[in-house]
Amino acid sequence: MNKKDAKKRIKKLRDEINYHNYKYYVENNPVISDYEFDQLLKELESLEDKFPDLVTPDSPTQRVGGEPLEGFTTVEHKKAMLSLDNTYTYDELREFDERVKKNVGDVQYVVEPKIDGTGVALLYENSILVRGLTRGDGVGGDDITSNLKTILSIPLKLRGITLKNVEVRGEVYFPLEGFKKYNRMQAEKREAVFANPRNAAAGSLRQLDPKIVASRPLNIFVYSISFSDKEFLTHEKAIKALQEAGFRVNPLVKKVENMEEAIKYCVELEKKRETIDYEIDGAVIKVNSLAKQKELGETIKHPRWAIAYKFAAKQATTRLKDIAIQVGRTGTLTPVAILEPVPVGGVTVSRATLHNFDELKRKDVKIGDVVLVERSGDVIPQVVKSIKEKREGNEKARRIPKKCPICGSKIIHTEDEVAVRCPNRMCPARLKWRIKYYASRDAMDIDHLGESTIDKLIENDFINNIADLYTLKKEDILTLEGFKEKSAQNLIDSIEKSKNQSLSRLIYGLGIRHVGKYAAQLLASQYNSIDKLAITDIEELREIHGLGDKTAEAIGTFFGTEENNELISKLKDIGIKTQEVITTENMPLKGKKFVFTGRLQSLSRPDASDFVKQKGGIVSSSVSRDTDYVVVGEKPGSKFEKAKKLGLTILDEEEFKKLVGK
Ligand code: IVH
Repeated sequence: MNKKDAKKRIKKLRDEINYHNYKYYVENNPVISDYEFDQLLKELESLEDKFPDLVTPDSPTQRVGGEPLEGFTTVEHKKAMLSLDNTYTYDELREFDERVKKNVGDVQYVVEPKIDGTGVALLYENSILVRGLTRGDGVGGDDITSNLKTILSIPLKLRGITLKNVEVRGEVYFPLEGFKKYNRMQAEKREAVFANPRNAAAGSLRQLDPKIVASRPLNIFVYSISFSDKEFLTHEKAIKALQEAGFRVNPLVKKVENMEEAIKYCVELEKKRETIDYEIDGAVIKVNSLAKQKELGETIKHPRWAIAYKFAAKQATTRLKDIAIQVGRTGTLTPVAILEPVPVGGVTVSRATLHNFDELKRKDVKIGDVVLVERSGDVIPQVVKSIKEKREGNEKARRIPKKCPICGSKIIHTEDEVAVRCPNRMCPARLKWRIKYYASRDAMDIDHLGESTIDKLIENDFINNIADLYTLKKEDILTLEGFKEKSAQNLIDSIEKSKNQSLSRLIYGLGIRHVGKYAAQLLASQYNSIDKLAITDIEELREIHGLGDKTAEAIGTFFGTEENNELISKLKDIGIKTQEVITTENMPLKGKKFVFTGRLQSLSRPDASDFVKQKGGIVSSSVSRDTDYVVVGEKPGSKFEKAKKLGLTILDEEEFKKLVGK
């Protein structure tokens, strides 16, 4: 294709892609399949590769571009980003209405959900997104353009001709489902979680690497035009124009005739709060006429034409009675807030997490403080901060203990790890969690082995490690308080049953640091036996696609410990399944190592990797002498050269597809 034709085709592809993006992300109503969409994007990518000077910043291929930034630049807002005055009662809304009417006569209002995310300003010039800023202090904000571009419902180019030069404001938020999933994954990797979806949204937008931002499920609702070369009569019309220009506006925005109707709708919105996939912390009531908005004007802080009605808070203040120390499965010491019981959004809360000691220090939370507690997105309650103004002088800081509160061992506290740990693997607290973890539903799934039973078994010295579970006798259990013939037999039976659980459950249940469910499956399918896994060196583990360095090291450390090897051999003696029998019929690529380089035309990399794994193969990221196959796509990198030098088997895409039977 010559350049002129390419230019034409590129324009057509971009328009089509923008249209389908809009249908998918804004209207939630796709008209083509994901596959067809990918084909369009791929065609555009390959044309832009051939003619790099035809790439423009608004091309759909440029959503996740560039290297991580060194830092953000602060830019002054062309028009200050004010905040809203808050009210908590309907009477205060009526007073607001009186003030408005006194100044500009009768008005219509528009009522909108107040999205609990983080405010942003998007600047478009000649229909192209040129800059995106955070709210910052309202006067100036950080330039986060490359991060905002990764949000697929933000148009890079405006549709139609009504809006061309415009600044749009909106709220970026972290959907609840995604928030829960993100925190679950972080917890599984034992990494930091976000306290609430608002922090998750703001924290994500502050990432310096757009690739990380792109991996988070951020979304946006836009709620106003701050300036544009087109004038509108009402807020309602402006919102409509925003929607037509390709923005995502909230479907619950509603025009009402007066304040009483607005109040009725606030009641409705508060009920809806529990059923939608994003947090809202109130309703915003805005004067509809833009001329009247102008007439009402603003104070230095708030507009006089809008007000927020805040819903019952999922926050409360209460006294922090004590800071208890919990010792977790891996020995991590976690400070836990013991609170004067307090209702928070309908639930009485008496304990809240303080995450870790760094956080405790950073937040300067002390025993005796009045603290702000928050519950959101179904996560465990958090202590948000202490109220310093309420201090009386006798509050006490909780220092990192020198000794484990359970077993008295000296605590380990390395600089690079946030965690403070008890190193004693025999610490009863750690043993308890290890057993609990081993017996949990995702691991060996042992029924009737609850926390209090585990406590009793440990206290009575019946178990000192996981293997001891299998030597328990019914007579032993019958000596424990609360056990009868039948319940004791049930426990024995379910322990016995667990001997046949899958290898991946066993690996997961061993509680190796950083090895979650996914890593456990990966390891089980790669090695088929605990013995093979145990003798694999860290370098080889690192090569396994999807396993991080930390995980590889943790596995190496685990199997490098004599005590763990003893445990494994005991488990084998007991007759626990430590191997997976795999039928080689379905695993023609068993143990074969694959490396990919260059872009594949008809497959995504994750799909291609899955095909390899399904057939028993391993995907590695670097070429070495023991690589079995190097799959070469378009524009391969240095791995291709290395593969040729080493004389490895090289496959093109078609040959690869044949090999994996696709
Ligand atoms: S209008 C002059 N509408 O709430 C301020 N704000 O405290 C006009 N927010 O900074 C803001 N949902 O980030 C408006 N539907 C909505 C909103 C909304 C969330 C945020 C926004 C603003 C803060 C005000």
